[in-house]
Amino acid sequence: MSAPRLLLPRPPATFGTARLSARPPREDDGPAVFAAYANDPEVTRYLVWPAYERVEPLTAFLRDCIAAWEKGEGHLAWLLCLKGTDAPIGTLGVTVSPRGRALFGYALGRKYWGHGFAAEALTHVVDWALAQPAIFRAWAFCDVENTASMRVMEKAGMTREGILRRWQVCPTLGPELRDCCVYAKVR
Ligand SMILES: CC(C)(COP(=O)(O)OP(=O)(O)OC[C@H]1O[C@@H](n2cnc3c(N)ncnc32)[C@H](O)[C@@H]1OP(=O)(O)O)[C@@H](O)C(=O)NCCC(=O)NCCS
Repeated sequence: MSAPRLLLPRPPATFGTARLSARPPREDDGPAVFAAYANDPEVTRYLVWPAYERVEPLTAFLRDCIAAWEKGEGHLAWLLCLKGTDAPIGTLGVTVSPRGRALFGYALGRKYWGHGFAAEALTHVVDWALAQPAIFRAWAFCDVENTASMRVMEKAGMTREGILRRWQVCPTLGPELRDCCVYAKVR
């Protein structure tokens, strides 16, 4: 007999903040996501995926994201849009684990950096996560050189816990495992 499946809190499919709206991706978002951020090696410098060179594999990835939303589990990614528009300017994702943890990741198109958008969106979902009775830890990590991302996590109320040594490969920078800083907000 298989173990009973735990019911994990399901993140809202859409949400809004003062300046942003967030929604699940659609299959036809491929070209817009490609142009907004996914084809830019400056954006992917510290990410676990390299910049896309063609739209088709990105569309396949968006299809996987849509399937995750349909199942309500795995890595659930929103596209972030400026409020009142439908065009993606970036992405934010969460993985909720059965042990009460919510792991976040995010990226924005370069021309939208420096306006506090990432912190605004992350704050909203961190607050959502820690309001769920089954979630006790909202966390994220970034490359030790990714100072902007560290500030985003701090502004979302997370505190720095330490360094995960040799934690992640950033393919844009090379094949080496790199050190990452880990941040969390717990209750
Ligand atoms: C990291 C990222 C999401 C930040 O988005 P953002 O909307 O510009 O972030 P915010 O405006 O909310 O905050 C950025 C903070 O970092 C600071 N910052 C930005 N670039 C910086 C740099 N090169 N060095 C030091 N601080 C920097 C800003 O001054 C700001 O802090 P402040 O509010 O105290 O002034 C964005 O740069 C990005 O998409 N980068 C590429 C993808 C990525 O690395 N994602 C994170 C993976 S863990």
